[in-house]
Amino acid sequence: MSPAIGHGHGKLILAGEHAVVYGHPALAMAVDRGFTTTLTPEPGPLQLPVEDPRLRAVVQDALPEGGYKVQIESTLPLGRGMGSSAALAVSLVRAVASARGEQLDPAVEWERVFAIEQRFHGTPSGVDQAVSARGGVVRFRRGPPPEITALPHPDWEVVVLDSGKAGDTRTMVDKVRALRPAIDPILSAIGALVDQAQAVLTAPRELGPLLTENHRLLQQIGVSTPTLDTLVDLALSAGAHGAKLSGAGGGGVVLALVGDPAPILTAARERGISAFCCRAAPSDPELP
Ligand code: PMV
Repeated sequence: MSPAIGHGHGKLILAGEHAVVYGHPALAMAVDRGFTTTLTPEPGPLQLPVEDPRLRAVVQDALPEGGYKVQIESTLPLGRGMGSSAALAVSLVRAVASARGEQLDPAVEWERVFAIEQRFHGTPSGVDQAVSARGGVVRFRRGPPPEITALPHPDWEVVVLDSGKAGDTRTMVDKVRALRPAIDPILSAIGALVDQAQAVLTAPRELGPLLTENHRLLQQIGVSTPTLDTLVDLALSAGAHGAKLSGAGGGGVVLALVGDPAPILTAARERGISAFCCRAAPSDPELP
């Protein structure tokens, strides 16, 4: 029997993180990097991209009956707010369904992936898995049921700058929750900015300043760090249209919307900062 393979995209949140937890919309983009799970029906080891007991337990619990050699590979930086847990969950759920010869209904897939995401994150909004499963760029509003709207495919490029530090989503979400209701006007401003950003999604010169404004609002709710602020400033001074932290903050990555990635990649390399280019992954036309 041939191996069963599943893939899940990584993601970047273009606008709206944290506010999305409280019912505001967010824009998220699947990236051309992610997780691939390969299940070969023969006895063999469980190969993980990183040794982590929680990850090992999640994979073991999801495996179909019978002996399988399991290989999980990632082209994403792990724990950097690029949706690695959702990408892993989508790839695993799809590979297991394929190994069982099961045709997965999107609603069933959603529930299975969400159950895995809850084991990693407690109460995720679902934005990561929405974009991981379907690719492209989506507008997301949490449910139930979640509202997911596919948006036009942008042809611009982003440079991702790695802070070198993991951000813990659960900790950061709890930190923001503790600041409410005082910060609710800032969360509403982030929500309004998402609508503005959506309207200019394919126009990088107009979109960029809105992303930078989103970063300033995220600073105000305490989820940025001096390193993330430095990376945003570095990107802007190297010619980015806009830049912001992406994901929960406290660490993780900065995304910089660029016309020409070369000056930012050079500036990053000179300072020993890990950086790479990303584009939006194609969207899955099969999904509604
Ligand atoms: O897991 P991250 O770092 O991509 O953050 C997810 C985005 C949040 O809005 C902070 C949390 C959520 O569940 O939407």
